[in-house]
Amino acid sequence: MPQIASPRGLSTAEAPFIEEARSQGQLFIQQPYELYTEENQQAWRTLYGRMRPQWERYAHPHFQDGLASLALDPNHIPRLADVNGHLQTGFQTKAVTGCLPAFLFFDCLRNRQFPTTITIRRPDSVDYVPEPDIFHDAACHAPLLADPHFAEILFRFGECARTATALVSHIGDETRRIRTLTNILKAMARFYWFTVEFGLMQSFGGIKAYGSGLLSSYGEIQHAVESPEVQRSPIQLEWVIHQSFQIDRYQPLLFVIDSFDHLFSLLGRLEYWITAGRLDNVAPGEPKVSESDLKSFLLHLG
Ligand SMILES: [Fe+2]
Repeated sequence: MPQIASPRGLSTAEAPFIEEARSQGQLFIQQPYELYTEENQQAWRTLYGRMRPQWERYAHPHFQDGLASLALDPNHIPRLADVNGHLQTGFQTKAVTGCLPAFLFFDCLRNRQFPTTITIRRPDSVDYVPEPDIFHDAACHAPLLADPHFAEILFRFGECARTATALVSHIGDETRRIRTLTNILKAMARFYWFTVEFGLMQSFGGIKAYGSGLLSSYGEIQHAVESPEVQRSPIQLEWVIHQSFQIDRYQPLLFVIDSFDHLFSLLGRLEYWITAGRLDNVAPGEPKVSESDLKSFLLHLG
């Protein structure tokens, strides 16, 4: 593909390279490192420099260990090939043009690939962008890919998606099939949100953050760990699958796991509940399950 020079380089929602790839239907791409502008690099420096002291205080030691093992450069956006070279768990990052339809996302996890955004937010929007960027994916998700226990957790999410397709493929009535699938996807999205994105975990130093949504937010990580306005509950699967959430505000409710082994065992129970029909009628509310997410599952029925 011809590479188009742009003053915005690879900025979130303003990257011609990404728009061009998407218009050609490409979901997976290479990281065209030379397209990052000085403004893009400055955004990385600002984000990384602001978050580093927050991570030291509020991030779980498992994240800090993973971060150290990746040897990310605080001053330069990482090359994903370098990140992959440091990962020893079988997981690799995989550059994408944007959010994948749900089945493809989970199936990447099953193949031990983490879909990774290559664009970066503008330096004037360092506090919040709703969509992921390379800071969120490479600095806040990838360090946990280096943890062998967490890598198995992500793989298990992918297995749950396969289990869901196998289950609904046996439902003959189409209305019932779509209703069942919609409920399972809603439950899985809630569980992913309250763990991989916004999870808290016990540590010797008290409760710390391991969810990447928290690890990429300068303000929310402290709020999540310290604020009396946040309800922190020991995780309960039957609660999480029925719990809706809003993405554009600090989370008022967070769930605490004991360890990654604990979370892995909960995923085993989630997978069992999929097959036992316990996710067929979860409470209504966010997140919405999009047509394209449903379609991606229906195209891969087992
Ligand atoms: Fe994320």
